[in-house]
Amino acid sequence: MRRARQRPAVAAPLPHDSAVQHVSGAALYIDDLPEPRDLLHAYIRLSERAHARIARLEVAAVAAAPGVAAVMTARDLPAANDIGPVLPGDLVFADGVVEYWGQSLFAVAAESVELARAAAFKAVVDYEDLPAILDIETALTRQSFVLPTQVMRRGDAAAALARAPHRLKGRLAIGGQDHFYLEGQVAMAMPREGGDMLVLSSTQHPSEVQHLVAKVLGLPDSAVVTEVRRMGGGFGGKETQAAPIACTAALLAQRTGRPVKLRLDRDDDMILTGKRHDFIADYDVGFDAEGRIRGIALMLASRCGISPDLSGAVNDRAMMHADNCYYLENVTITSHRCKTNTVSNTAFRGFGGPQGMMAIEQVVDEIARRLGMDPLAVRKRNFYGLRRRNLTPYRMKVEDNVIPGLVAELEESADYAARRAAAARFNASSPWLKRGLALTPVKFGISFTATSMNQAGALLHVYTDGSVQLNHGGTEMGQGLFIKVAQVVADEFGIDIARVKITATTTEKVPNTSPTAASSGSDLNGKAAQAAAREIKSRLARCAASLWGGKPQDVVFAEGEVRLGRRSLSFAALARHAHRSRVSLSATGFYRTPKLRYDPKTHRGRPFYYFAYGAAMSEVEIDTLTGEYKLRRVVILHDCGASLNPAIDLGQVEGGFVQGMGWLTSEELCWDAEGRLTTHAPSTYKIPACSDVPPDFRVALRRGRNREPSIYRSKAVGEPPLMLAISVFHALRDAIAAVGEYQLSPLLDAPATSERVLLAVEDLRERLGRTSARLAAE
Ligand code: MTE
Ligand code: HPA
Ligand code: MOS
Repeated sequence: MRRARQRPAVAAPLPHDSAVQHVSGAALYIDDLPEPRDLLHAYIRLSERAHARIARLEVAAVAAAPGVAAVMTARDLPAANDIGPVLPGDLVFADGVVEYWGQSLFAVAAESVELARAAAFKAVVDYEDLPAILDIETALTRQSFVLPTQVMRRGDAAAALARAPHRLKGRLAIGGQDHFYLEGQVAMAMPREGGDMLVLSSTQHPSEVQHLVAKVLGLPDSAVVTEVRRMGGGFGGKETQAAPIACTAALLAQRTGRPVKLRLDRDDDMILTGKRHDFIADYDVGFDAEGRIRGIALMLASRCGISPDLSGAVNDRAMMHADNCYYLENVTITSHRCKTNTVSNTAFRGFGGPQGMMAIEQVVDEIARRLGMDPLAVRKRNFYGLRRRNLTPYRMKVEDNVIPGLVAELEESADYAARRAAAARFNASSPWLKRGLALTPVKFGISFTATSMNQAGALLHVYTDGSVQLNHGGTEMGQGLFIKVAQVVADEFGIDIARVKITATTTEKVPNTSPTAASSGSDLNGKAAQAAAREIKSRLARCAASLWGGKPQDVVFAEGEVRLGRRSLSFAALARHAHRSRVSLSATGFYRTPKLRYDPKTHRGRPFYYFAYGAAMSEVEIDTLTGEYKLRRVVILHDCGASLNPAIDLGQVEGGFVQGMGWLTSEELCWDAEGRLTTHAPSTYKIPACSDVPPDFRVALRRGRNREPSIYRSKAVGEPPLMLAISVFHALRDAIAAVGEYQLSPLLDAPATSERVLLAVEDLRERLGRTSARLAAE
């Protein structure tokens, strides 16, 4: 009997390699692992002031409490306290002063979490308050910045603004976002022989955790191993924020000589880890009667919190996405990186891009409302051109501008014109319920903006039974990276994907890795693993050629076999033969993204290998008496190039969209006047639930391939879909505008909570009243 033909794995809609384990509870996260017999549990005591001198920190009672094995403050650190990822400024423990509410004061290790927590509250802490800067406006007034202000410029914005037939100015506030990964931050540190340390860490950046743990312990990097099998979500929140957790656990483990686990509960996690930056965007735009932008000055200011963390790169990316899909001939983008006495904000899916895009989408929408045009028409009028008008403000050419075609396709398939007419009809006959819709585009740059980070390594072993063990520097956080890279390796060897063993990420196998971030995980690690597979393949091909006589380049790897002319062997048999012939069956692979060059000082160059695109049309219905609203229908067309795995990519598009919708609608972070986060649990911080997914949700992947030779011509998909949710925000604006029969533009900040929608409706009604009163008087 002939066995069924083995189909290629790449481009197949294979399920996530852990799908069954995820839903059955069998997938092991760090907190699920069997606990070592002598395990201690750690607890971090948080500061209760936004800015204060620590007059007294007395921990004797903590140390004496039942079950306590060790207490550590800044004074007890053996080597270093600063664990800033790029620049100094992030401390393991506050030293002399606290600079934000929730800063780590000290940590305690005890026989149980309960004992550790009870002990921690026995400390005596006296503060002497210092003045605190809590928000962006105050920071701007006081010129309080974590990094110098940056300006990106092209053409002459001031002159173009002065000349433009129309001009408008405004301000948009854009809220932050908590990552709300299902698995909170966690690490388990285990002392090894000779003072070495093994750290299991829920991290997107094992190499950085390794390096920082080594730094605080006073060890060389080579004495520390960091391992992560999977995270229960990261979303950028475990790029730098895993390190303080891992370092705290490792310090206590070194101190006690016992394994230590530190798992934050949800409230502490939300208080003491950084979030998405909230922004203020001021715009001054000049345009013509057709809605074409002639000149624009944008001011972006973000709340970075107390330290630089990744804020330089986040704000750079915000500037680089303040064009979105639009050609800005005369443009000045000013970016202020505000320093505040709040937790240091960090990477979050989109990494500043979403905030930059919100700014320009607001501008385009405002232009449309001022001119009384359909916002989609204004959007299309400003799109990058195919041959002309295709240079970004940072001078990168938009080479594969698929946006005009993609938007036209969506406009057609989502029935934009008819649905808009239907909404207008509905609104004309509905006094209180109003419907709105919006179709917005996304263009997102793929690569780390810090060029040096665009590299990856892999390690591949072929065993003599023909099974393959795959390891690379990327981490799995639910996004499906591991299955994608396994698909690539399976197809290189022409073997069934079941023969490729996916293994945990560890600094012991692949060193000096970049974080799994910037959506580049499969681009980078896919190529590195492919390089390793090709190395082993070339050795195997030479083996086969010398065995049978012939040229190595004529050897074919397919369907579990290796063939040369009419001769063939199973992949396993050839592996055995190669081993007996003393040929190595293990190889490393390395990849660095080509074509990149960028000067962060002048903000010019090619920071991105390519762009990923998408567009979404959203339809909402608001209740103008309560501000409540429903998302009725969403249609998405997204560009993944030639998808490595359309099932995974569809999941990324849906998940990204819903997460973006949460950011722009219901997820609101609030701080009180003392700088205390008041929304630190699901009871007060509302992420989308299954019931918030639109009842009519149509997602399609655009047919196409990457014009750059990326891995199998695919495109990165992790972050870009989040920004498709900007369509929801603008659909809400559209529905509010319907209240004034589209004569006035709504005043609405993000997130568009029901409360803000109601306020925007009432504000619009009031302005409308004033306008009609004035008209009547005239
Ligand atoms: N998808 C899931 N399920 N969980 C996550 O934590 N993180 C997002 C995105 N998709 C995330 C996710 C972010 S912020 C990034 S940068 C990418 O996945 C990282 O993975 P990739 O580079 O392999 O796409
Ligand atoms: N994106 C995501 N994470 C990052 C980046 C980036 O551009 N740079 C540094 N960390
Ligand atoms: Mo994603 S914010 O680049 O981890």
